[in-house]
Amino acid sequence: MKIVVTGGAGYIGSHTIIDILERTDHEVVSIDNFSNSNEDTFDRIEEITGKRVKNYNIDLTAYKTLKEEFFEKENDIDGIIHFAALKAVGESVEKPVKYYQNNLNGLINLLKCVQKFDVPSFIFSSSCTVYGNVKVQPVTEDTPTQTPESPYGYTKLVGEKILSDFSKTKAAFHALSLRYFNPVGAHMSGLNGELPKGRPNNLVPVVTQSASGWIDDLCVHGTDYETRDGTPIRDYIHVSDIAHAHVLALEYLQSGKAAANYDVFNLGSGTGVTVLEVIQAFEEVSEIKLNYTVGPRRDGDVEIIYANNQKAKDLLHWEINHSIEDAMRSAWKWQQYLNEVKSGDKVHHG
Ligand code: UD1
Repeated sequence: MKIVVTGGAGYIGSHTIIDILERTDHEVVSIDNFSNSNEDTFDRIEEITGKRVKNYNIDLTAYKTLKEEFFEKENDIDGIIHFAALKAVGESVEKPVKYYQNNLNGLINLLKCVQKFDVPSFIFSSSCTVYGNVKVQPVTEDTPTQTPESPYGYTKLVGEKILSDFSKTKAAFHALSLRYFNPVGAHMSGLNGELPKGRPNNLVPVVTQSASGWIDDLCVHGTDYETRDGTPIRDYIHVSDIAHAHVLALEYLQSGKAAANYDVFNLGSGTGVTVLEVIQAFEEVSEIKLNYTVGPRRDGDVEIIYANNQKAKDLLHWEINHSIEDAMRSAWKWQQYLNEVKSGDKVHHG
């Protein structure tokens, strides 16, 4: 297969490229404009896999450039995995137009090209945020979606709807939305991981960066939730397990086993873990005691969400191969690699 990965230099995109190159013979081409990532990622992918991936630095919101500079040059595409999007929940509340413009126009332009160039398969990065605040846990794919709290979440819900509607118009086209829970960790080599530009917002990079002294304000956002230790429960899933699900998803579509033109899958571990348990797991694997403060609840946070992942296990034959400890160990290894790069002990490519 020839697979296009948008956002190939990003966190989940780069791990998916590594999975494709390590475990299959499929060809990969990336489109990434490095808006929240770095060209170095392709050096790291090469270091891990021994293979160089071609990247096109194209903004997906520029339809003419996308069509002429990418789709007219790269022929016979079997599938697109579409990661490229903005994902900071807080920023999306402050800059909603930026999020709608980027996330929705990017998807729409890709689908226009899918139509024009007859791409048969499409995988969309969605999120458990589409379920909103749900009483009954774990959530299944049949749990009704709700209006998300943030413009970011709304772009995922609307993105799913656009893809679902588009799929009905083309008999030979099949698409899936994969609803990620909380992707964490790094490649087990510690050579590739999450590195957002600026201060991270997500819990695990905040934890690893504060353990290294890059930031000094690790704050637990709320300890008054109705959970076993008062902090919110999430479903943390290793990024390499998430990555492999994309390969299985494309193979599932290609095999013709998909009953419908469009479907959705939860990608979570199935286990709910509290914020304090994440901190404890990190402290155990790193043998570092974290200094943290307790602050008020963060706007838009839900109390509890974790996945029922049976559908992905049954239909995609997805298996989860990494634990939360693996996630913490690899995230810490990656942070230590970054520390060496920062201190000049390691040559920084690019
Ligand atoms: C959210 C979205 C998810 C989205 C992701 C993108 C929901 C339910 N989830 O994940 O769909 O893809 O953002 O960024 O909307 N925390 C702290 N201190 C910190 C950082 C986080 O206590 O410094 C806590 C949060 O309050 C939360 C947990 O850690 O309870 C996880 O937070 P985070 O890693 O940001 O992910 P979500 O908000 O769950």
